[in-house]
Amino acid sequence: MIKDKVVVITGASSGIGEATAKMLAKNGAKVVLGARRENRLQAIVNDIKNAGGQATYKVTDVRDAQEVADLVTLAKNEFGSLDVIFNNAGIMPSSPISALHTKEWNDMIDINIKGVLNGVAAVMPDFVKNKQGHIITTSSVAGIKSFTGAGVYGATKFAVRNLMEVIRMESAQEGTNIRTTTLYPAAINTELLHTITDEETKKNMDSFYQQVGISPEAIARVVNFAVDQPADVNVNEFTIYPTKQM
Ligand SMILES: NC(=O)c1ccc[n+]([C@@H]2O[C@H](COP(=O)([O-])OP(=O)(O)OC[C@H]3O[C@@H](n4cnc5c(N)ncnc54)[C@H](OP(=O)(O)O)[C@@H]3O)[C@@H](O)[C@H]2O)c1
Repeated sequence: MIKDKVVVITGASSGIGEATAKMLAKNGAKVVLGARRENRLQAIVNDIKNAGGQATYKVTDVRDAQEVADLVTLAKNEFGSLDVIFNNAGIMPSSPISALHTKEWNDMIDINIKGVLNGVAAVMPDFVKNKQGHIITTSSVAGIKSFTGAGVYGATKFAVRNLMEVIRMESAQEGTNIRTTTLYPAAINTELLHTITDEETKKNMDSFYQQVGISPEAIARVVNFAVDQPADVNVNEFTIYPTKQM
């Protein structure tokens, strides 16, 4: 059941996070949006409310554990509980390793791995205590196979895959009923390619996405399905490709 579930979404200011927030809210969830761009969050919350949904936001940088914890606290204060966290914030400044964009390597580790860990840490005490909860995380097809240009990006997404599978196994072992869902999207038309600074890589990726990319609503529908499952069902992994992508 989606209706009245309280869902925290990071990376909710554009792309997959925005599409998911709008879809879940349309189906009766109470959504709590986090990201850095306040004007975008404000506009999305207004759209949701104007459409009759329930939503709030807090400017959140997922690199900061306290800010992520505060986002979760906002969900509980505003809506009384927390059912789901969607760890979706991420960046993809792809480049060949030989280009040594080492600052971007560190940024990806801080946002794509540590940002997810901050989300997990923020919800785990309540989920364990209540013996329920759902952690959804956006990995990538680059988290299940290797792509040139995505050495570090893929490393962060492989890391997330392992983390999520272990949370699932430990939840079963510890009897905490925490559900996990990991998403492996392929080319989805969002603002993600804006984070690429390596010119050659950006040109190739832009052209590839123009040829095959699909809309973020494809991922929102999958999240919607996962959240809708009964409490004893863990739909664990989804790989979502455009039909046209090899
Ligand atoms: N698009 C694809 O083809 C694709 C494929 C596989 C996986 N993914 C993954 O899908 C997720 C969502 O990306 P998207 O495709 O929807 O791209 P997007 O439109 O660029 O969205 C990325 C979101 O992450 C947020 N974000 C980035 N750094 C952040 C930080 N430090 N703190 C908080 N929020 C931060 C951005 O908001 P602010 O800038 O406002 O903070 C934005 O809301 C990412 O994890 C990405 O790796 C995307």
